[in-house]
Amino acid sequence: MTSTPDDAAERHVPVLLQRCVDLLAPALGEPGSVLVDCTLGMGGHTEAVLEQVPTARVVGIDRDPEAIDRASRRLARFGDRFRAVHAVYDEIEDVVADVVGAPVQGVLMDLGVSSLQIDETERGFSYAHDAPLDMRMDPTVGLTAKDVLNTYDERALTRILRDYGEERFAQRIARAVVRRREQQPWERSADLVDLVRASIPAATRTTGGNPAKRTFQALRIEVNGELEVLERAVPAAVDVLAVGGRIVVESYHSLEDRIVKRVLAAGATISAPAGLPVVPEQDEPYLRLLTRGAEEAPAGERETNPRSASVRLRAAERTRPTPPHRRPSAARRSPAPGHRPTDRPHDPGETTR
Ligand SMILES: C[S@@+](CC[C@H](N)C(=O)[O-])C[C@H]1O[C@@H](n2cnc3c(N)ncnc32)[C@H](O)[C@@H]1O
Repeated sequence: MTSTPDDAAERHVPVLLQRCVDLLAPALGEPGSVLVDCTLGMGGHTEAVLEQVPTARVVGIDRDPEAIDRASRRLARFGDRFRAVHAVYDEIEDVVADVVGAPVQGVLMDLGVSSLQIDETERGFSYAHDAPLDMRMDPTVGLTAKDVLNTYDERALTRILRDYGEERFAQRIARAVVRRREQQPWERSADLVDLVRASIPAATRTTGGNPAKRTFQALRIEVNGELEVLERAVPAAVDVLAVGGRIVVESYHSLEDRIVKRVLAAGATISAPAGLPVVPEQDEPYLRLLTRGAEEAPAGERETNPRSASVRLRAAERTRPTPPHRRPSAARRSPAPGHRPTDRPHDPGETTR
């Protein structure tokens, strides 16, 4: 399919766009300042930063090759102020080392999937259209939703649906998924939508939109290892910030927001035991929170952009270098070099990710 840069702009409306720019801009005022947009998507946030902050350059990361392609075309007019990198965002330290070679002044994360990914029905993210059960953000690697449904045991499926989808009827649906695959392996999304509908009590079928929504969200999070990746990525993103640099994160799920909140709060807290007469310098906070709690989208934006309804935005500024013993990413490195949740050989017994 051919597309124009304008087409990319129309496919995804960025959430809290001006708020993100306003939070990042004060850190990007020096010529050559660098923002890493970890979730480039259609490039909406990046475009606004490049337009409004002439001193800024942007390195845009996305794991979806199609997003890289579309955003690159949209942002070509900015020349060498923009550079796209196909990577998973927990590789941010390597990307910054390779592309920038120094700490950066800004990091932006706008989590989850883009409207483009949902709209491209053949990718299987949408419960509204029948398609192969895929759901990989990077369609070139890793397990598909079909693999999860055909190989995970009932307990594992229950946990995924309950934890990632907040699905009340997780066990019923998981049991039905396993029973159905004994007759016929999972292939298509419409069959899953039908099965979810049939598995939940009739009285709950008519409330709260399509009952398959939570199951689809849970599978997407599992297929892409979203929470595991985020656990590594937020600390790594804090580590690559220069003093005065700022991080802004938009979450759309309570488990995502909890990870972000924990990492930012740890950096904004004195790490020494309470009651010391003088706080040792190494135990002073190295982050200053820029938001009071998590910010939500204003009512007007929620009405015009449904994606914004669940957003929780948090931001912080680095106030000093991190002492080595408090480097947030030190304890959270990938278990092995090159390890990716999406190319790990599948072990159906291993279900706690
Ligand atoms: C909500 S969209 C971002 C939209 C973007 N802010 C814009 O204005 O167009 C999220 C994007 O992040 C990408 N993404 C999600 N998880 C990722 C990860 N772990 N690593 C790299 N990219 C990721 C998705 O492929 C998607 O394109």
